[in-house]
Amino acid sequence: MNIILLGPPGAGKGTQAARLEADRGMVQLSTGDMLRAAVKAGTPVGLQAKSVMEAGELVSDAIVSALIGERLDQGTGNGAIFDGYPRTAAQADALDKLLAEREATLDFVIELAVDEDALVERIVGRFTCANCGAGYHDKFKQPKVADTCDVCGHHEFKRRPDDNEETVRTRMTEYRAKTAPILPGYEARGLVYRVDGMADIAHVTQAIEDILDRK
Ligand code: AP5
Repeated sequence: MNIILLGPPGAGKGTQAARLEADRGMVQLSTGDMLRAAVKAGTPVGLQAKSVMEAGELVSDAIVSALIGERLDQGTGNGAIFDGYPRTAAQADALDKLLAEREATLDFVIELAVDEDALVERIVGRFTCANCGAGYHDKFKQPKVADTCDVCGHHEFKRRPDDNEETVRTRMTEYRAKTAPILPGYEARGLVYRVDGMADIAHVTQAIEDILDRK
């Protein structure tokens, strides 16, 4: 089963993808994570992507579609969860081709419907363990013991350089202008299901699971 999680920055795509990965043996394909890894490693792709990401704009279609193609070739277990891809009409077309070349199909496009003002608070408050990547939030999910990761006990945490209010607003503008317009095409193919992304995290997961169980 191959699904797309679609929604603006902070809608919960990464959170839900990780939960589905754990529950269903599917594989999360996050272009944001792939690009951040490239930036960290200082690869040519990372060097091109760094300033674009820090500005909250979109990296080129060719780069992200190539990353997805390479990742698909490594295998996707019980299916792929596309998280943050596709983000433009050209990427949606590229994904159709990448899947067709591998005799695969797209089963569901899950739109996480959210209140954009609440998302700024979600994003600006989030941080992760610098060691294992476990996610936390200043207001919604503090570590159980102050300054100590619940998962690995590490004491250092980090924040994404693009998680400031100004950049988040640009990311949302990009979403409205370039990503939201790909939804009608998927709607015409009968693939889109909407989930209330403002519900608590477990309820959102359950709503997605209910949709995937239709297959
Ligand atoms: P990317 O990493 O994809 O960022 P994004 O789409 O802006 O999404 P986020 O990771 O910020 O949010 P999310 O929806 O995953 O929410 P999360 O689960 O973390 O992309 C970053 C940049 O890379 C882009 O700006 C662009 O430059 C580039 N890029 C990436 N892909 C690209 C592409 N295809 N084409 C071109 N450029 C590309 O949740 C957020 C917070 O909310 C967390 O703290 C979480 O704990 C909390 N939370 C989640 N769900 C809930 C809930 N239901 N209730 C309360 N809190 C919740």
